[in-house]
Amino acid sequence: MFTPTPIGFVRSPYSQTSTIPKGLGAKHDAEGDLEILPEFAAGLQDVEGFSHLFVIWVFDKSEGYQLVGPTPVDGIPHGVFATRSPRRPNPLGLTVVEILGRTENRLHVRGLDMLEGTPILDLKPYMSSIAAEKLRRGWLDVAEAKG
Ligand SMILES: C[S@@+](CC[C@H](N)C(=O)[O-])C[C@H]1O[C@@H](n2cnc3c(N)ncnc32)[C@H](O)[C@@H]1O
Repeated sequence: MFTPTPIGFVRSPYSQTSTIPKGLGAKHDAEGDLEILPEFAAGLQDVEGFSHLFVIWVFDKSEGYQLVGPTPVDGIPHGVFATRSPRRPNPLGLTVVEILGRTENRLHVRGLDMLEGTPILDLKPYMSSIAAEKLRRGWLDVAEAKG
């Protein structure tokens, strides 16, 4: 294994988890910056050619984990690996953001759902080759159908 090192930090409008939209129909259109540390900034070369990025980050403010627990979406217990819960054995977050622009080592993005100062571990271009009709969304589809 390896010891993860942040490549940068999220500059987010959210300073408290209670202000981040949650639950059914939550929209994530908050804007902010991904501030990449100067020693890793060369790795941003060519990144603006992509519209969206995967951001891999650390739930640094969550403690412990719960293997089965309720979500804010439907209040029904689900296995942690069937949810996006912050309380996971390895506290890694994955968020897709839209790139709005770049100034040197800062990427201006839309779609943040993480707190100010959240450590970023990696960025990768967003790509999906899975046709919409092949996707199944399990308990989420059930919750959305119930409204
Ligand atoms: C449901 S998780 C989903 C995160 C990501 N999109 C994912 O799927 O891994 C988003 C929630 O994580 C919590 N959160 C955000 N930043 C955090 C941080 N740095 N440490 C702990 N919890 C955080 C907030 O409560 C936020 O509403």
